[in-house]
Amino acid sequence: MTNNIHPSIIALDGPAASGKSTLGRRLADSLGYLFFDTGIMYRAITWIALQRDLDLRDESLITILAQTAQIDICPPSKDDGRACDVVIAEKDVTWDMRDGNVEANVSVVSAYAGVRRALSEQQRRIGLRGKVVMVGRDIGTVVLPEADIKIYLDASAEERAKRRYDELIARGEQADYDEILSKVIERDRIDSTRAVAPLRPADDAVIIDSDKMDADQVFGLVLKLCLAA
Ligand code: DC
Repeated sequence: MTNNIHPSIIALDGPAASGKSTLGRRLADSLGYLFFDTGIMYRAITWIALQRDLDLRDESLITILAQTAQIDICPPSKDDGRACDVVIAEKDVTWDMRDGNVEANVSVVSAYAGVRRALSEQQRRIGLRGKVVMVGRDIGTVVLPEADIKIYLDASAEERAKRRYDELIARGEQADYDEILSKVIERDRIDSTRAVAPLRPADDAVIIDSDKMDADQVFGLVLKLCLAA
């Protein structure tokens, strides 16, 4: 541990829409740590590939893109719900990362070994500086296996789909629960069955099932775990 008071490296993994980002942000804020959502990097590579009309099935091409792309992830410049700014070629593309087309293709891109290697190396370099809450699928297992505390935040596919549905409705957007549920299930399938760094809890992770807990309860529990670690 690189700090005597709190765990310095906090790894937070779990499936899509399990509430990792909300929790990670709150945790980082309260500890004064950097919040790093690694999913953004996979989304950014997917977005650039789509913009350039690259063949997403071409693993070597997408790997070269991941090795060379310049993606800037900076502290939020606007108070519009974003956790950070994503800047590519000097353009603020933060909200493009949530685009349906990115959503539909990011699991394919993130299953490529070369893409994972390129992005994991960058994530690890940043994580090892400490005072970080790093959120993803493989942080505790691959990116930062030496993390001081590992949390695996889980919830049933139905509960996660419901939360995503409620979020969209609250933002005044159209949403179809069944469609969201089938996408959540499909993302889980791809993320947990891929050959490289599949989604799974680290052996020493604390697994939290948040089905019957609200965001405040999860936050309270995890903060307590961090302070006791
Ligand atoms: O957490 P998210 O929904 O923004 O993640 C987007 C995609 O990236 C998702 O399909 C899983 C993948 N991902 C990953 O494979 N490894 C990570 N460390 C983070 C995200």
